[in-house]
Amino acid sequence: MTPLERKTPSVADTTDPHALPIDEYRDLFPVARRRTWLNHASQGTLAQPVLHALHEALRQHAEGDFDGPREFAMYERVRSVAADFIGAAAGEVSFTKNIPDALNIIAHGLQWRPGDTILIPDQEFPANVYPWRNLAEQGVETLMVPSRDGDVAVDDIIDRLDQRTRLVSVSWVQFATGFRVDLRRLADACHDNGTLLCVDAIQGLGAFPLDVAATGIDFLATSSHKWLLAPTGAGWLYCRKELVPSLNVQFVGQSSYERRVGANYLDYDLPLWPDSRRFEPGIHNQLGLVGLEASLKLLTEIGAEPIRDQIRTLSSRVADELTARGYHVVSNRHADHWSGIVAFESDRTDMSAVHKALTAADVITSLRGPRVRVSTHFYNDHDDIDRLLAALPD
Ligand SMILES: Cc1ncc(COP(=O)(O)O)c(C=O)c1O
Repeated sequence: MTPLERKTPSVADTTDPHALPIDEYRDLFPVARRRTWLNHASQGTLAQPVLHALHEALRQHAEGDFDGPREFAMYERVRSVAADFIGAAAGEVSFTKNIPDALNIIAHGLQWRPGDTILIPDQEFPANVYPWRNLAEQGVETLMVPSRDGDVAVDDIIDRLDQRTRLVSVSWVQFATGFRVDLRRLADACHDNGTLLCVDAIQGLGAFPLDVAATGIDFLATSSHKWLLAPTGAGWLYCRKELVPSLNVQFVGQSSYERRVGANYLDYDLPLWPDSRRFEPGIHNQLGLVGLEASLKLLTEIGAEPIRDQIRTLSSRVADELTARGYHVVSNRHADHWSGIVAFESDRTDMSAVHKALTAADVITSLRGPRVRVSTHFYNDHDDIDRLLAALPD
């Protein structure tokens, strides 16, 4: 039986502990038969088991097979799967639409004092800038720590910690350069200073294993549609359980309160959920979460370490071959800082022409400023990289 036959009907319901060799999972990705997709830092693709789960959910919807209790049980199942994926407890996870949605829960949940400061690296994706800068009218200052050639120098952030620093917020992996931050070290330094650590994990989660409890992260936001290979709009916020009661719940609705299935809708005096469900005002993105469950189960079945190792093999080859062809690879490939993102530039070639040539050959990458960004996931293979190299202009 092929991996496709074996997994298509079953992966949404079971986790098979007997993962296949990693390259056998490529067949599960329809995109691999059509084009060379090296663009996971922008948009991931969907595997067959995810399509199957989505199709089944749509069929149920279309045919009126809606079943409220089953639907709510599904949400709680996905919550547990998402929590397990990052070493959290289910009660520490709330579903969100996207990264700013999650960060705004924190920004409007913490009780700020005028004069508080927030530190962020200076080349963050804007999702991790605006929610903090929006606090200026409360007297909270967002300070940017200069990067060093696109690298986030954790030492420089640590040097800037002082008694006013309430929060540090960083991307685990920088969107433009792929630089991966040592979260453990940063968390320890933040906590020694009485500062909270918030992480935008969108460019790392799905490519690298992460245990939030062991790492000491206080808040983590992620979205579904990049390295997690799920539909858009099915992200989640992790909030360390000790911190949940201390946050203001800024947006409330029927789902924020302890209303159980079948309870009286006209009882308006229910307490807030004691856990992170209090941050969810209403109904969820049903299809997004159906797809997320299937993708997280697939990623879990394959295993975070084999996925990371395969991404390392492929992205290292990309970096080495581009360097050999005279391009400047700006991504830091040190053992502690590499990621699935390889960004490259050239002082003798117009990079928008390079990006155009790649796209014309159906090799999908991103143009980010003066660089082309290549982002390989585990189901890419060496043929994909051969096609990338062959499509580069002379
Ligand atoms: C680091 C980072 N954060 C956030 C986002 C966007 O997140 P969302 O689509 O959930 O708004 C991106 C997208 O490129 C990103 O690279």
